[in-house]
Amino acid sequence: MMKTITLSKEQIYQGDLLLVNAQYPYRDDSRKFYVSLDSRYAEIFLSREAANALQLVFRKISSGNAIIPVSGYRSLMEQTEIYNTSLKDNGEEFTRKYVALPNHSEHQTGLAIDLGLSKPDIDFIRPDFPYDGICEKFRQAAPNYGFIQRYAKDKESITGISHEPWHFRYVGYPHSKIITEQGFSLEEYTEFIKNYRDNCRFIFTAICEKEIET
Ligand code: DAL
Ligand code: ZN
Repeated sequence: MMKTITLSKEQIYQGDLLLVNAQYPYRDDSRKFYVSLDSRYAEIFLSREAANALQLVFRKISSGNAIIPVSGYRSLMEQTEIYNTSLKDNGEEFTRKYVALPNHSEHQTGLAIDLGLSKPDIDFIRPDFPYDGICEKFRQAAPNYGFIQRYAKDKESITGISHEPWHFRYVGYPHSKIITEQGFSLEEYTEFIKNYRDNCRFIFTAICEKEIET
């Protein structure tokens, strides 16, 4: 049986599809339901849905301890500290590429997670998350659980951030699947659903027919 998904205009601008980038600051501090990822990573917080979904991906690919959550929710203070420390240690050009300005980081939403392949000395800003092995397995499975790889190589001019193989963003399913299959950046996707509601419905129908069947 096919399930039809209807979104009102308000719903499109709320919640998990929230766009935060250099142009759109994070304003809403009302989402307070962050949870600790699990007992092994008690200091990593995410929104409840994102945390649950991430655990499902880990379980699906049996990643065990091979993938390490490196950075999840960040407060404004934490993002400011990361930005300033990187400016000092890595310089302006590097920092502009890999660290969002305070109040412009989607880590502040609790919907973004940086992941690293487990090894000694994981780089906090640029963890290694290669395109093979268990990391690639994660990358392939993630869109089925609501996650997208947020900063693609061919979208640098749109996102304003350099290619980040380690940074995943929870947007919810089926958005994650559509974004990945159609090769959208989140910027392009939010624009797309604003401007092409009919096309959007068509794609939702096509994908949901395949993916959401009971
Ligand atoms: N590394 C991403 C862009 C951030 O700082 O939010
Ligand atoms: Zn990140």
